[in-house]
Amino acid sequence: MKDTYIFSIETSCDETSCSIVKNGNVDIATVTSTQIDIHKKFGGVVPEIASRNHTGVITLLFEECLKKANMTFNEIDAIAVTYGPGLNGALLVGIEAAKALSFATKKPLVPVNHMAGHIYANKFTGKFKFPLLSLVVSGGHTELIYMQDEYLFKKIGSTLDDSVGEAYDKVARVIGIPYPGGPLMDKMASVGKHSYNLPVPKNDNSYDFSFSGIKSAVINLVHNEKQRGKEINKEDLATSFQETVVGILVKKTVKAIKEYNVKQLLLAGGVSANSGLRKALDTACKELNIEFLKPDIKYCTDNASMIGAAAYYAYKRGDRAGFNLNPEPGLDLDKEWINNE
Ligand code: KG4
Ligand code: ZN
Repeated sequence: MKDTYIFSIETSCDETSCSIVKNGNVDIATVTSTQIDIHKKFGGVVPEIASRNHTGVITLLFEECLKKANMTFNEIDAIAVTYGPGLNGALLVGIEAAKALSFATKKPLVPVNHMAGHIYANKFTGKFKFPLLSLVVSGGHTELIYMQDEYLFKKIGSTLDDSVGEAYDKVARVIGIPYPGGPLMDKMASVGKHSYNLPVPKNDNSYDFSFSGIKSAVINLVHNEKQRGKEINKEDLATSFQETVVGILVKKTVKAIKEYNVKQLLLAGGVSANSGLRKALDTACKELNIEFLKPDIKYCTDNASMIGAAAYYAYKRGDRAGFNLNPEPGLDLDKEWINNE
């Protein structure tokens, strides 16, 4: 069978990335320019600044990616781009660049959902076995997704307020850790003790999550300790926070694995890099005797390789966009399911 090469573009937040992926699971070349240092001084991503920086580097990345792969557009089958969810202006830069490329090269344009990309980052780890469940944990989302087959997603639960990544970043900020605080909090959690009693968010029988309460509890705790002239133990707080959050994520994921009788669990999104979460799900899946796939650390946070992996299946089933493609900042994975019913 002829190989399929997809040139993919990702600009939904603060990473400008492009990649060439073969047959949905071979990363031929990927180049990513991160803006983390630019946004650090603002304590979070500033949308307008993100868009401007995408514009500044995107064409240079195209050239660099082709050079790294030692390929030309003649060998590419399709151009794929993230069209949502994400920041409107940031998505627009990638979409317009993808349209221009598609126009110039006469290659089809394939629209890809960013969250599908996070799930498909697992294609670089192993084969999918259906039905499967994916726990998607990123800076913008916390969702439990059921997949009946390739590219068929059904959301069975999600956060009612903050995402888990957002809660990590906000709690980190309160204790003086710069954006994005998740990775450093994770490191600190590995050396502290679970000594602060924090409320377990939405500890019920539903598949929904809530993380704003635990975030407020941490803010109040830090404030109260300060008023009493005491210093908070940052490592202990990181451990207490991480163990509480991981506990509820694992509890609800295990319940869904049993109820939906899935063959595999996939972890996805930026927070899938979290060592506590990876370890706890590993143990849970061993006990349940089901396979657990997690992305390689380099595919956890935003990158275009995952978009190229998802795009292979979107391309195969015939998803195509016209030159009127627009960003969909609030795009839901359920839309893919509805489109195929
Ligand atoms: O998926 P992602 O790159 O961007 C979005 O699509 O939102 O996720 C970024 C989020 C940030 O909130 C960051 O703090 C979090 O992922 N993150 C982590 C870890 N590495 C990244 N959170 C906890 N532990 C980590 N090791
Ligand atoms: Zn993401």
